[in-house]
Amino acid sequence: MRIRLEHIVKRFDDNTAVNDFSAVIESGELVTLLGPSGCGKSTMLNMLSGIIYPTEGKIYFDEDDVTFMSSEKRGIGLVFQNYALYPHMTVLENICFPLEIKKVPKAERIERAKKMAELVHVEGMLNRKPGQLSGGQQQRVAIARALVKEPRLLLLDEPLSNLDARLRIEMREEIRRIQLETGVTTIFVTHDQEEAMSISDHIILMKLGVLQQYDKPQALYDQPANCFVADFLGNPPINKVAGVVEGGKVLLGEEKLDSGIRADVPDGTRVWLSFRAESVILDNDSPLKAHVIMTSVMGKEVITSFNLAGKEVRGYMDANAELLRDQEIGIRFKKSGVFVFDYETGERYL
Ligand SMILES: Nc1ncnc2c1ncn2[C@@H]1O[C@H](COP(=O)(O)OP(=O)(O)OP(=O)(O)O)[C@@H](O)[C@H]1O
Ligand SMILES: [Mg+2]
Repeated sequence: MRIRLEHIVKRFDDNTAVNDFSAVIESGELVTLLGPSGCGKSTMLNMLSGIIYPTEGKIYFDEDDVTFMSSEKRGIGLVFQNYALYPHMTVLENICFPLEIKKVPKAERIERAKKMAELVHVEGMLNRKPGQLSGGQQQRVAIARALVKEPRLLLLDEPLSNLDARLRIEMREEIRRIQLETGVTTIFVTHDQEEAMSISDHIILMKLGVLQQYDKPQALYDQPANCFVADFLGNPPINKVAGVVEGGKVLLGEEKLDSGIRADVPDGTRVWLSFRAESVILDNDSPLKAHVIMTSVMGKEVITSFNLAGKEVRGYMDANAELLRDQEIGIRFKKSGVFVFDYETGERYL
């Protein structure tokens, strides 16, 4: 099912939680709403589910205007952070429950629930109570229960945040597998960029209720729309050095070091030069000088932190270079992963 959001606004008293949000979510995709705490992700999801209604704007499921339709009529499946299983019911009874409400005959109920249990790999524990399951298993049951009604749309609000790190990775891959197997259009909420990057067809990155960029995961990383997007994605975080543009050249720090990067903006414009750790090249012939702070081995990679125009930044360097503390090095930048943003507004210039 295709979803169209048109100029959605949600205000709580004088607090605008979502502002002028428009997007189309294509049928069969897994789209992630990503952003820091309080940016309006759950508010957006709750408007899609019908738990709350927008202050302004329209929501369409295919051609149906569902803006003010009740939750039950929307044909959605919901999964939240806390599994919210019924503790006194068995796994099978939990998965069956939504069908019982819909008065589906018992034999069919059990057959459909068992199929769902197989899909999410809990078929071996149908007679257990939720208290006898691990967190990951409980969340599998919650997903089965959400899918058993064959919803048009699956909505997941931080479904993995109660799980430990290793289980989170396993379960996010499971969610993607289940989503691909069923083909159900899915909206997934998280504040974890890695989670979003690894499972989504598209990501919507939000800040203070406003959509910042709606793109494929790699496109958000490679072509961030603004400084906020660049800062939000990437591990290690993108490096940022303040500078000013003179004669089209980006000059860094108090000393106005020539970065070798150009930006077509008026003289005196204050900017951020932002660059990924993988975009730094060690080149002692380069006139742009920096000083080594330290080198750390991170698995198969060597990352060097260095002082560039008074700012500590990091780059992946040649592991054989044997850089010493305080050593002067020359650096230059690759073409990719290097951006220039307005210092105040975050608008992208390069
Ligand atoms: N019922 C409500 N009444 C008043 N303000 C609310 C209500 N629900 C949410 N808000 C406010 O709206 C903003 C967005 O909240 P929301 O829960 O959507 O954020 P979120 O992105 O889901 O954050 P988190 O990652 O912490 O779950 C916040 O400033 C929040 O305080
Ligand atoms: Mg939330």
